Amino acid sequence: MKIDFANLQYQYQVYKVDIDVNVQSVLDKSNYILGEEVNKLENQLAEFVQVKHALTCSSGTDALLLAMMAFNIQPGDEVITTPFSFIATAETIAFLQAIPVFVDIEEDTFNIDPHKIEAAITKKTKAIIPVSLYGQPADMDEIEGIAKKHNLKIIVDGAQSFGSTYKGVTDSCKGDIATTSFFPAKPLGCYGDGGAVFTNNDRYAEKIKMMRAHGQNERYRHKYIGMGGRFDTIQAAVLLAKLPHYKNEIKNRECVAGLYTQSLGDAVNVPKVKLDRTSVWAQYTLRVNCRDQLQNKLRESGVPTAVHYPMPLHLQECFRYLDCEEGQCPVAEKASKEVLSLPMNAFQNEEVTQYVCDQLIDFL
Ligand SMILES: Cc1ncc(COP(=O)(O)O)c(C=O)c1O
Repeated sequence: MKIDFANLQYQYQVYKVDIDVNVQSVLDKSNYILGEEVNKLENQLAEFVQVKHALTCSSGTDALLLAMMAFNIQPGDEVITTPFSFIATAETIAFLQAIPVFVDIEEDTFNIDPHKIEAAITKKTKAIIPVSLYGQPADMDEIEGIAKKHNLKIIVDGAQSFGSTYKGVTDSCKGDIATTSFFPAKPLGCYGDGGAVFTNNDRYAEKIKMMRAHGQNERYRHKYIGMGGRFDTIQAAVLLAKLPHYKNEIKNRECVAGLYTQSLGDAVNVPKVKLDRTSVWAQYTLRVNCRDQLQNKLRESGVPTAVHYPMPLHLQECFRYLDCEEGQCPVAEKASKEVLSLPMNAFQNEEVTQYVCDQLIDFL
């Protein structure tokens, strides 16, 4: 059997008719920049996650930058985040010359450990960026309580979690600003780079709208130093075709995850989702010993796997100037040696999922 990790080609075939019509319409109108599709999509995204403002932008990375720029994060400000994430979460903090401060994660969810946050707060701390890793929101009540007590802003990095819920509301409603990514392999992916920023705050929304278009408040009048961070109309056309099916896709992902857990739960350390929240299963990530051997064996059986992430952020070369040390975030460091993501997408049938499980159990 030959298995596709994210199944993007199959996905396109499923939605091809609608996507082609939508994209052709943009080409016919040639309204490539902030065309009507962008506005239409933003309204539908806001409705989907039940947030007042959904503002699309050029990527999940730029969404984080725009959120921090809305808070006016300055050089030397400290921003607390997790060391167990994609580089963009911390890179954007450093890009603004602020200082990423890494707080270790929980053993079972891989998300930032709220009990360790307060010890990392200093007079320079301005914000906390929890990440909803693999699609599951972090402990938002605890994090919001700490932020309120210390007057800090929260940005929820929901690049992997669009549509997930925490105590009945989407994680895009949490924090002062939430972000997501529409990178193709993300749960709601477009066919290029893209992202969005969500907020219920009118002031932040207005500023982000300007910031993504070079800080301009009217044509060639620039109120802020901004960036070229708009979302393409063609990509909006792709997502307009996909969004109506997204709830169903989440259900399918839940089914794949459910079958993995049912088949593997007795044999390996399967992912845990806390009872008061849902995951959109951007990844189905196990903890295993002998990861390299298992990956090789699965590859030989036609099962692609991935490691999210093999090195925690505090130990990355680009952050050497922060003088972080091995042993500083032991839970994340251990996780980086053990995690293994299995094929996961909304189009994976039971036969494929069962085959992956059989191969894995065979190795163990
Ligand atoms: C947690 C997290 N944050 C940010 C990003 C950046 O998103 P993008 O690739 O759209 O820039 C990603 C993408 O992988 C991510 O996983």
